[in-house]
Amino acid sequence: MDQTLQIMLADFLGTFGGNADGIRCFFAPGRINLIGEHTDYNGGYVLPVALEIGSFLLARPRRDRLLRLADSQWPQPLQADLDHLTDFLQEPWGSYQLAIAHILQRQGCLLQGCDLYYHETVPLASGLSSSAAIELVTATALNRLNRLQIPPLRLAELAQTAECDFIGVQCGIMDQFAAAMGKANHALLLRCSDLRFQAVPLHLGDYRLLIVNSNYPRSLLQSKYNQRRQECEAALAMLQRALPQAANLAAITPRQFAATGAVLQDSLLFRRARHVISENARVLSAAAALTAGDLVSFGLLLNASHRSLRDDYEVTGAALDCLAETAQNIPGVLGARMTGAGFGGCTINLLPGSQIEAFQAKLSAVYQKKTGRLPSFYPADSADGAHEIDRALL
Ligand code: GLA
Repeated sequence: MDQTLQIMLADFLGTFGGNADGIRCFFAPGRINLIGEHTDYNGGYVLPVALEIGSFLLARPRRDRLLRLADSQWPQPLQADLDHLTDFLQEPWGSYQLAIAHILQRQGCLLQGCDLYYHETVPLASGLSSSAAIELVTATALNRLNRLQIPPLRLAELAQTAECDFIGVQCGIMDQFAAAMGKANHALLLRCSDLRFQAVPLHLGDYRLLIVNSNYPRSLLQSKYNQRRQECEAALAMLQRALPQAANLAAITPRQFAATGAVLQDSLLFRRARHVISENARVLSAAAALTAGDLVSFGLLLNASHRSLRDDYEVTGAALDCLAETAQNIPGVLGARMTGAGFGGCTINLLPGSQIEAFQAKLSAVYQKKTGRLPSFYPADSADGAHEIDRALL
């Protein structure tokens, strides 16, 4: 990491000039979600793990009202005026960062200008929440530089609102929560209806979690995601005729659904609701299995989650199905499923550490034959949520 920061520092000074005085360093993680997909905006449970890969940021305050942004992966720096941020929210790059500054100001926070240099180690647009990492690293830096003293959980909520209001994805809270509150060597069992959470130790023994990137561009993510959300709202409204006390889909138990689901004559809405309700129950079973060290049961729940996302929620697609189903059939693999919103992106796979190389070779061969693409692999090493990095490392 020291080397990454050194390269970033050289690029920062090359882009913005000056010397290293006053530059501070921040990190926010990407995430995988172990299980509990598309449950967050339905008030349900999720089980994300914050990753060691994420977004690094070097930040230096300025005396004026300018925000200058640069990124190791984007050719052009961007300069925005803190008094006219909405003019810049449509820029092809930088909108996540500026949306954070904008929402902080909308809360009445007084911000001073600064120079911000980003470097992402989490792959972009791959379903590992690079956007939430960028949002939370920005929010954490602005919070510290401006001495705003906003607690991390509140920063996560503000970032989620910024994404809904200014970026246009009607996302739930999971990604921003994981980026803000992650805990190394733990998953976070979060109930999204009231943000109560508990850290679940990741006791994997000789097993490892491996991330596989389909390298398949996520198509229509924004519109299909928002459409799923609307379908859930429509299903809830119909179910509430039979269950008026249900505040959200996740508040409905599988047993209640078995008794009342027939009101959803529209089979599409029935399947959407069945996914959410069954997935929510699977999260609690999975957290219990993980806590008990029962990785076999945990793996079976991962497989069941993928099936439900494929057949009932219809967010997987051929590339993710090929990766998950091929992995599930490799001897020794305990479970595999897509993670994140879907429509492309990544799978997570639970397998013996000793089999990783053979697994990668086998999966790559099958995937390349079926899709013409090669997958990428990353270890799912866990990390803490967004934080400032000791300056001594610079
Ligand atoms: C995206 C969203 C999250 C969540 C997942 C699906 O990552 O940002 O809020 O809805 O999809 O579980």
